[in-house]
Amino acid sequence: MQTHHFSNRGHSKILHIPSLALVLLICLVSPTSSCTEQEKASLLQFLAGLSQDGGLAASWQHATDCCQWAGITCRQDTTITDVLLASKGLEGHVSESLGNLTGLQHLNLSHNSLSGGLPLELVSSSSILVLDISYNQFNGTLPELSASTPAQPLKVLNISSNFFTGQFTSTKWKGMENLVALNASNNRFTGQVPTHFCNTSPDISVLDLSFNRFSGSLPQGLGDCSKMIELRAGYNDLSGTIPDELFNATSNLSTLDLGGNNLSGKVPDSIGQLKKLQELHLNNNNMSGELPSAVSNCINLIIIDLKSNNFSGELANVNFSNLHNLKTLDLLYNNFTGKVPESIYSCSNMTALRLSGNKLHGQLSPRIGDLKYLTFLSLGKNSFKNITNALHILQSCRNLTTLLIGQNFIGEHMPELEKVEGFEKLQVLDIGGCPLFGKMPLWISNLANLEVLVLSNNKLTGSIPAWIKALKHLFYLDVRNNTLTGEIPTILMDMPTLMSENKEAHLDPRLFELPVYKSPSLQYRIPIAFPKVLDLSNNKFTGEIPLEIGQLKAVLSLNFSFNYLTGRIPQSICNLTNLLVLDLSSNNLTGAIPGALNSLNFLSGFNISNNDLEGPIPSGGQLNTFPNSSFDGNPKLCGSISLTNVILQYTRPPENNEIRNLLSQLDLVCSLEVLLFCCCWCDSFSQSR
Ligand SMILES: *[C@@H]1O[C@H](CO)[C@@H](O)[C@H](O)[C@H]1NC(C)=O
Ligand SMILES: *[C@@H]1O[C@H](CO)[C@@H](O)[C@H](O)[C@H]1NC(C)=O
Ligand SMILES: *[C@@H]1O[C@H](CO)[C@@H](O)[C@H](O)[C@H]1NC(C)=O
Ligand SMILES: *[C@@H]1O[C@H](CO)[C@@H](O)[C@H](O)[C@H]1NC(C)=O
Ligand SMILES: *[C@@H]1O[C@H](CO)[C@@H](O)[C@H](O)[C@H]1NC(C)=O
Ligand SMILES: *[C@@H]1O[C@H](CO)[C@@H](O)[C@H](O)[C@H]1NC(C)=O
Ligand SMILES: *[C@@H]1O[C@H](CO)[C@@H](O)[C@H](O)[C@H]1NC(C)=O
Ligand SMILES: *[C@@H]1O[C@H](CO)[C@@H](O)[C@H](O)[C@H]1NC(C)=O
Ligand SMILES: *[C@@H]1O[C@H](CO)[C@@H](O)[C@H](O)[C@H]1NC(C)=O
Ligand SMILES: *[C@@H]1O[C@H](CO)[C@@H](O)[C@H](O)[C@H]1NC(C)=O
Ligand SMILES: *[C@@H]1O[C@H](CO)[C@@H](O)[C@H](O)[C@H]1NC(C)=O
Ligand SMILES: *[C@@H]1O[C@H](CO)[C@@H](O)[C@H](O)[C@H]1NC(C)=O
Repeated sequence: MQTHHFSNRGHSKILHIPSLALVLLICLVSPTSSCTEQEKASLLQFLAGLSQDGGLAASWQHATDCCQWAGITCRQDTTITDVLLASKGLEGHVSESLGNLTGLQHLNLSHNSLSGGLPLELVSSSSILVLDISYNQFNGTLPELSASTPAQPLKVLNISSNFFTGQFTSTKWKGMENLVALNASNNRFTGQVPTHFCNTSPDISVLDLSFNRFSGSLPQGLGDCSKMIELRAGYNDLSGTIPDELFNATSNLSTLDLGGNNLSGKVPDSIGQLKKLQELHLNNNNMSGELPSAVSNCINLIIIDLKSNNFSGELANVNFSNLHNLKTLDLLYNNFTGKVPESIYSCSNMTALRLSGNKLHGQLSPRIGDLKYLTFLSLGKNSFKNITNALHILQSCRNLTTLLIGQNFIGEHMPELEKVEGFEKLQVLDIGGCPLFGKMPLWISNLANLEVLVLSNNKLTGSIPAWIKALKHLFYLDVRNNTLTGEIPTILMDMPTLMSENKEAHLDPRLFELPVYKSPSLQYRIPIAFPKVLDLSNNKFTGEIPLEIGQLKAVLSLNFSFNYLTGRIPQSICNLTNLLVLDLSSNNLTGAIPGALNSLNFLSGFNISNNDLEGPIPSGGQLNTFPNSSFDGNPKLCGSISLTNVILQYTRPPENNEIRNLLSQLDLVCSLEVLLFCCCWCDSFSQSR
């Protein structure tokens, strides 16, 4: 662009300077650039193929020099070299006329809404070096190059995030001798990963095939790509083992991502050859066996993600003290046994460590305090012992924001720490499912930044203590399935983060460095998506639901089920317009269902079964969308919903005595509705015959 501005200014100078010699001189020094008619025609043909040009036509006017058009760059001899039109709001098809630009080197059409096929003329171009059409809606198969097509200069091809289909046959890549980077991720490619890729494109250094439907095994030939730096084939349907040969020549490899496939077998010993490896993602596969000690040789590893496999054996095989740069170690859901090797605590750069869902045992080593940068620690669902010791030690990890240690420490007592020094930054604490005996401990009240507290599935007794109000940022409280008693304290109804709709749960974005799996299918990766929850279910709470419940306007899920709550459902509950889930089932609630509950449009889960509620189920709103089971076990409850469903179970019109039977179970208020309904039903039934 700079050159064009300069030559423009040159022109205007020429007009004012009389000396012909000077004119000639200036022209020689700074040649004008105005594109040829032929190139202009090619661009205009491309423009004509667009159904939305994003305002391009205003700049691309026939009467002007196309080297000055938006997105176009020319070389000084007037040939177009770059067409850079990323994120321009373009829609429609890409004309093959761009292939006529014989000097075009760089074509970037990424982040538009272009559709149709990728013209053969672009892939087989004898000038294009960089072709980026990522993030569009291109479809169809990649064009087949004919056997006679000469080798292309293409170095970078990015076709990621489109709807391309078909296989990666060798004819498609024949001639791509100069390819350095290929990103074909997030399409719908099928078939095998090409075997001879490294022979065809020996310079390939970035290959991204992830998020497609490639199947079969990983070809050992990929190990011949001696310049490979980044190899990604995650989230496909690849099976078989990782071939030993994969690592033979790829000693430059820095990123290997094969997660989310069906790979089986062991991590080959040859992995030790990858001295430059920084990221290893083998997560969500079926791999097994012990981790080879050769991993200790990959001294540049920063991320190891092996979660959700079947790896077993002792972690002590690997000498973690070699891995100085290790920041993330994720071994979630495997079958590792033994103790946590002390060498892990030498990785002083570690920020996230997840060992949960294994069979590790022993007490936590004091050396974990050496991990000064540790922010995320998840040890849950193992067989660790001595929670008193663990909490004592962990206070020295001063940067800890997330601590998940539940489902360990079976049958121990909830420690009553004298004083807490540390945990200043703790935002998430999960000590659920151990089960632990004791009370909700006072020391938790010192965790001033706590936002998420999970103490579920323990054997805690006593009441919800008044100190809970000290946790000013708490927005997720789960004490389900304990033996807590007393009334639901009204102080809970004064929790600022549960009350305020505006105040977003302000979890630190770095908090969940690793996604936290609530259940295998649900993961909270985006902090903002973490719901505001109050779960007091499966305890022995008595008394009435506080009227102040209507203040908890920000709560998305309220679960008081399986307690001994009495009294009525407070009318104020209808003020909780953000509620997605309301479960009051299996209590001793009486009285009528507040009609205004029908106005809770966002309700997606609702259960008031097994109480002693009475009267009609409010009709004509959200409540009608819930199944019978949401209302069952309230003998005095009646209404259209349950009956509708009962009657619809019949495949033939009910006999008179059956109707009489149904009616006998209902009180008078409802029977009229049933009769009306039933008659309509009978009518439509006879009509449909
Ligand atoms: C591009 O070249 C083809 C022949 O290769 C020709 O048929 C077509 O008219 C050309 N288009 C433009 C706009 O020059
Ligand atoms: C294409 O343009 C986008 C947006 O400017 C940019 O992110 C991308 O890196 C470009 N592609 C290439 C290969 O340079
Ligand atoms: C590409 O998508 C369009 C609709 O968006 C469809 O009509 C066309 O058949 C598709 N082409 C191929 C080759 O799948
Ligand atoms: C497409 O991939 C190439 C090569 O990896 C990369 O340089 C380019 O930035 C990518 N384009 C976008 C839009 O990310
Ligand atoms: C690959 O390396 C292994 C040792 O890791 C060796 O046994 C094998 O012969 C090598 N294969 C090739 C094809 O070089
Ligand atoms: C932590 O990582 C940095 C580079 O990211 C490295 O220079 C440093 O040596 C590492 N720390 C230790 C204790 O090894
Ligand atoms: C875990 O390892 C044990 C032996 O330590 C074995 O019996 C069990 O089958 C393994 N579980 C899985 C899911 O592989
Ligand atoms: C916490 O981490 C920061 C870097 O993120 C570091 O500078 C600081 O020293 C750490 N704090 C402690 C108490 O180790
Ligand atoms: C648990 O840890 C505490 C404090 O570190 C220690 O005093 C106690 O002996 C340990 N208990 C057992 C059973 O090892
Ligand atoms: C309740 O917690 C106990 C452990 O205290 C556990 O065994 C049981 O399965 C849990 N029940 C429910 C319904 O989650
Ligand atoms: C609902 O909230 C409004 C104020 O936001 C209040 O005036 C009203 O009394 C509340 N309704 C109930 C039933 O608590
Ligand atoms: C609650 O209901 C159960 C049966 O549903 C009954 O046994 C119990 O006495 C009731 N308790 C109270 C406090 O009403």
